[in-house]
Amino acid sequence: MQIFLDTAEIDAITARLDAGLVDGVTTNPSLIAKAGAAVFDRIAEICDAVDGPVSAEVVATDTDGMIAEGRRLAEIAPNVVIKLPLTGDGLIACRRFAEEGLQTNVTLCFSANQALLAAKAGASYISPFVGRIEDAGGDGIGLLEDIRAIYDQYGYETEILAASLRGPAHVEAAALAGCDAATIPPKVFDQMVSHALTDKGLAAFLADWKATGRSGLD
Ligand code: G3P
Repeated sequence: MQIFLDTAEIDAITARLDAGLVDGVTTNPSLIAKAGAAVFDRIAEICDAVDGPVSAEVVATDTDGMIAEGRRLAEIAPNVVIKLPLTGDGLIACRRFAEEGLQTNVTLCFSANQALLAAKAGASYISPFVGRIEDAGGDGIGLLEDIRAIYDQYGYETEILAASLRGPAHVEAAALAGCDAATIPPKVFDQMVSHALTDKGLAAFLADWKATGRSGLD
């Protein structure tokens, strides 16, 4: 499963690239606003740092506006993925970009029907919002499973990009549901690495070794 960082903070991205575990980045208008960055400059910086897909979202709500903004975003770098809201206008823009061979990420998906339509519109990625569905009392992981079943049944190649993931348990569930990718905040990425028993076990190993009075591995 691909792991994307869901952030527009460039330092948070570059600090996590060394192990080769970060496959891409997703941003949205809220994240760019929070980072206090200019959209085109920040997306260019991220694309320079990361080889994989970098989602950059339009803010226009009409098809023509989305197409104009999406084309400008796509000109930044070849790895830009144009992020479009899952609306009627967004799906028309998605179809147009698919015909032009441009990558799209259809976002704000809250139902299997929406995901079905995005796949039919030629979306490269669909972003179901797991955490926000749970916030509203729904079954976010169940939605991932439903989308996986529908896409497999009909052979849609749209990749399922689990989004709005709030903790490591969400990432595990997305992987078990067969998602192609998960986008996560940097904090969740760090939490995935950690386990209390790993820390405890390592401390015991080191204490036992120190007790021998030997240094290093010699
Ligand atoms: O990728 C979408 C994500 O940023 C939304 O997450 O936590 O704001 O629901 P959240």
